[in-house]
Amino acid sequence: QAVGKGEFDHYMLKEIHEQPVAVANALEGRLGSDQVLIEAFGPQARQLLGKTRQIHLVACGTSYHAGMVARYWIEALAGVPCQVEIASEYRYRDVVAPPGTLLLTLSQSGETADTLAALRHARKRQGENYAGTLSICNVPGSSLVRESDLSLMTHAGPEIGVASTKAFTTQLTSLMLVALALRQLRGGDQGLTARLVHRLRYLPTLLGDTLQLDAEIAELAQRFVDYRHTLFLGRGAQMPIALEGALKLKEISYIHAEAYPAGELKHGPLALIDGNMPVVALAPMDELIDKLKSNLQEVRARGGQLVVFADPESRLEQEEGMRVVRVPGCCRFLAPIVYSLPLQLLAYHVAVARETDVDQPRNLAKSVTVE
Ligand code: G6P
Repeated sequence: QAVGKGEFDHYMLKEIHEQPVAVANALEGRLGSDQVLIEAFGPQARQLLGKTRQIHLVACGTSYHAGMVARYWIEALAGVPCQVEIASEYRYRDVVAPPGTLLLTLSQSGETADTLAALRHARKRQGENYAGTLSICNVPGSSLVRESDLSLMTHAGPEIGVASTKAFTTQLTSLMLVALALRQLRGGDQGLTARLVHRLRYLPTLLGDTLQLDAEIAELAQRFVDYRHTLFLGRGAQMPIALEGALKLKEISYIHAEAYPAGELKHGPLALIDGNMPVVALAPMDELIDKLKSNLQEVRARGGQLVVFADPESRLEQEEGMRVVRVPGCCRFLAPIVYSLPLQLLAYHVAVARETDVDQPRNLAKSVTVE
């Protein structure tokens, strides 16, 4: 590989640690003093986002999870209806796209066959239903970028590890910029916009602080080595982060993992809980924290082994059957980006302990250019 691993044992670990810089690059030139600089997205950005009435967000794999987080942001911050779909489903469905639909494709590589096919499908109906197409992508000059009306580059730099890390968090950062741009164009209260712009500036530092958890998570990972299954739980915009945590773990450690919105526990997964079922939960400080705590009690009462990544102010304390890892405090809107990092580190260290091929997991490819 032209890109070296430097001091790191694997590309994945190097790329995890590059995230503060990658996210700073994704923000570079795009923030004004208290607004997002919409013009920096491209000359036609203001016009395209201005005529957007709803968004169809389409992607595969990790990029799909970024889209799922963005739905929470775009609807909460801009009031724009948003639906998120896996590209291989979207392309073959009789999609109803009301006039003014923006097709937003997300892809690290810009070459994923199903995502490209979804874009081409929308382009055929452009004008009539689709207001236009926007791609968020890491590879300049890729097919997705060339064929979209507008592209926002994530500037993550080359990502070699098959399990996506910095491409994901830079996608999330770019999607937050889009959500704020839509909010500005719709005249939403600009006080919150300004606060989020200030917090975005501080995000690279916050991610650097979060990476200090590396040693603690490496130690914690040892207890996962002999587990056969893991359940991840989150609520709200952390639910897709739970899905992404489960995907990372299964991709590289080959431990079966799945994720659930914590509120769905009672509708099925609770039946799986016993002393052999580790449950990883995400507990940032938000309006759902008390509801999450009662979900955690449901797991504890059945002997599940909890690992909780929690805000310092959550008042969740370590107890028998519940390990609490404190994640640096952060605002609820940026928490999905911050909480991605401990889950990446967990998957990485479990995979290393299980001696798998971390950067090249079996049967998987970095870029899926055929159907
Ligand atoms: C493959 C990769 C994943 C990636 C997905 C979508 O499955 O292994 O890491 O998330 O493709 O790729 P894209 O380049 O479109 O983001």
